[in-house]
Amino acid sequence: MSTASKPKFKNPRARFNFQGRTVSITGVGSYLPSRVLTNHELEKLVDTSDDWITSRTGIKERRIAAKDEFTSDLASKAAQRALKMAGVSADQIDLIIVATITPDMPFPSTACLVQQKIGAKKAAAFDLEAACSGFIYGLEIGQQFIMSRTYDTVLVIGAEKLSTIVDWKDRNTCVLFGDGAGAVVMQSRPNSHGLLTAVMGADGSKATLLEMPAGGSRCPATAESVSARLHYLRMDGKETFKNAVQAMLTAAQEALRRCELTISQIKCVIPHQANRRIIDAVGERLGATPDQLFLNLDRYGNTSAASVAIALDEAVSSGKFSRGDLILLVVFGAGLTWGAAVIEW
Ligand code: UT7
Repeated sequence: MSTASKPKFKNPRARFNFQGRTVSITGVGSYLPSRVLTNHELEKLVDTSDDWITSRTGIKERRIAAKDEFTSDLASKAAQRALKMAGVSADQIDLIIVATITPDMPFPSTACLVQQKIGAKKAAAFDLEAACSGFIYGLEIGQQFIMSRTYDTVLVIGAEKLSTIVDWKDRNTCVLFGDGAGAVVMQSRPNSHGLLTAVMGADGSKATLLEMPAGGSRCPATAESVSARLHYLRMDGKETFKNAVQAMLTAAQEALRRCELTISQIKCVIPHQANRRIIDAVGERLGATPDQLFLNLDRYGNTSAASVAIALDEAVSSGKFSRGDLILLVVFGAGLTWGAAVIEW
């Protein structure tokens, strides 16, 4: 082992385990709708090309949920896979957190609909809105409930049906997004492996960079708001890009600093899958090697709150790391919001 990769302290868990209690991720699962929408198909919808999308974003295709398949359906399927891996039955779940910007409806929460669909009768349930950062926010909240001994078993889901809020006439945004869901089961374990730290951040002064202007109390749905296309997401791509690189870098560095780790000790970095160029820029500035970075945006595009959850599941099933390895998740989204988490797998 080189000096650079030597842990700075003997037991990285020691600082994070509270009275012998660690928060472990015991199950992970994801679900992607079967319909694949390729860049070539998009060429027929808007003035774009496979070449532009691939070179500017790294995305080749994305998944689109069926008309009668809602965010709660995607979320429930991902959750059931995570529960299966954890060996946990639905009635053992204490809390369900669904991170999403595309809930089935404004209320009741998608988490309540998931609770009913999977049969988690005793679970409390709520939605969390932190856009593409929602899954990391969910991990941190889940961890707090477990550390405080309020709950033992928390299901955190990131799920989106972004195809319903994408403006299919706007080439600046419609090529970027896709549908899907990812989930984890978090449980308390005595002196075990698990979540070491989670960092969350926000900057509401840049809220207009990425937003869906109508549908809330500021601009309720009217015939005018619909015809002005205000119920679709809008983004200032260039500014969002710059902010994403800086915020993801800062969040990742803060998470590593809190754990007294260097990037060379991290086996796998799982970044928010928004744009290949953002991931490369963050990876380079962090000092990560290309094979430390996990990528799947070529197949799914940006699935917002589901993005790192799906990637985590795929990284686990493809054997990208094994028990005991350290992994770093890092996210960025509308709000603006950002976050990072270090997990000892
Ligand atoms: O999940 C939340 C976080 N999301 C992000 O972080 C996304 C951040 N932003 C981005 O990923 C990039 O800014 C985009 C992929 C959205 C855009 O890439 P860019 O390199 O910043 O392109 P641009 O916006 O500067 O546009 C360059 C040109 C423009 O044409 P002109 O004005 O130079 O003639 C655009 O109109 O590319 C044009 N363009 C397209 N051309 C073909 C924009 N979208 C397309 C398109 N196909 N789909």
